[in-house]
Amino acid sequence: MNLREYLALQQSLVDAELDRLVPPENVPPETIHRAMRYSLFAGGKRIRPILCLEAAHAVSDDSPGAISAACALELIHTYSLIHDDLPALDNDDYRRGKLTNHKVFGEAMAILAGDSLLTWAFQVLAELDAPPDRKVRLIAELATASGTVGGMIGGQVADLEGEGKTPTAPLLESIHRAKTGALLRASLRMGAIYAGATAEQYKLLSCYGEHMGLAFQIVDDLLDVEESSAALGKTAGKDAQQHKITFPAVYGLERSHRMAEEQCALAHQALQPFGERAARLGELADHIVQRKS
Ligand code: IPE
Ligand code: IPE
Ligand code: MG
Ligand code: MG
Ligand code: MG
Repeated sequence: MNLREYLALQQSLVDAELDRLVPPENVPPETIHRAMRYSLFAGGKRIRPILCLEAAHAVSDDSPGAISAACALELIHTYSLIHDDLPALDNDDYRRGKLTNHKVFGEAMAILAGDSLLTWAFQVLAELDAPPDRKVRLIAELATASGTVGGMIGGQVADLEGEGKTPTAPLLESIHRAKTGALLRASLRMGAIYAGATAEQYKLLSCYGEHMGLAFQIVDDLLDVEESSAALGKTAGKDAQQHKITFPAVYGLERSHRMAEEQCALAHQALQPFGERAARLGELADHIVQRKS
């Protein structure tokens, strides 16, 4: 199976599991379930759940329930996007090629849709078919990565407070590691935990996740400059307009591309001890850096 076929297959598995996990639209109160599903099934790349599943595969052949843990990451990620797009944050009208959640359902419902995806993620983990000690570790991992200290919310705060500030290299790296890197790294760590990784395997997959987390946001910043809104499914050119602290703003385009490649090479190194078992993670690293959307 080539990478394109593999990604399409994994995306369909993730979509089917999300559909199973989230209440149908006809369950009252219908509006919130429609709003949650609107953003959830708007066509995300599902990179985080796919990385989680591959991390589990790198460790063990026997992780049948890993798909639910993987979906918890996508629930958190989609919540973060709905809130990121709100008028009070980045104020975006388009996401995943469609109008943003608040444009369709109004701000109040978009806030609640984000809240409910966040809450649902932890319910999914609590109800996972896994030994209790692993479930607790998974819950702690996802909570920390989504939180205020070096996690997604902490990064979003720094991103917003950074608007218009002089973009410095240390501030830039700390924003990106937190707002995007933490959840990316958690994707690998959660797959590792679910599959029963040794401390060494956990460390190596964390290392891969940390480098790819940074690479992922460098590329997101580059795409914002270099691609069209149509290609991205979200408004291009927003970062410069909002004076965001980004890699292109600090290092320029060429150097930012090189830095993404460097992070990718470091991620590949971390995979070496896994050999063939991590072949897809290697391909995914290249794909994340070369993607056009
Ligand atoms: C976009 O994430 C927001 C960032 C954290 C950079 P993705 O590029 O993974 O968005 P989807 O899930 O495919 O829409
Ligand atoms: C968002 O970063 C990171 C999140 C935690 C959602 P961006 O603001 O750059 O994401 P896009 O470009 O709107 O997808
Ligand atoms: Mg933002
Ligand atoms: Mg944004
Ligand atoms: Mg962006």
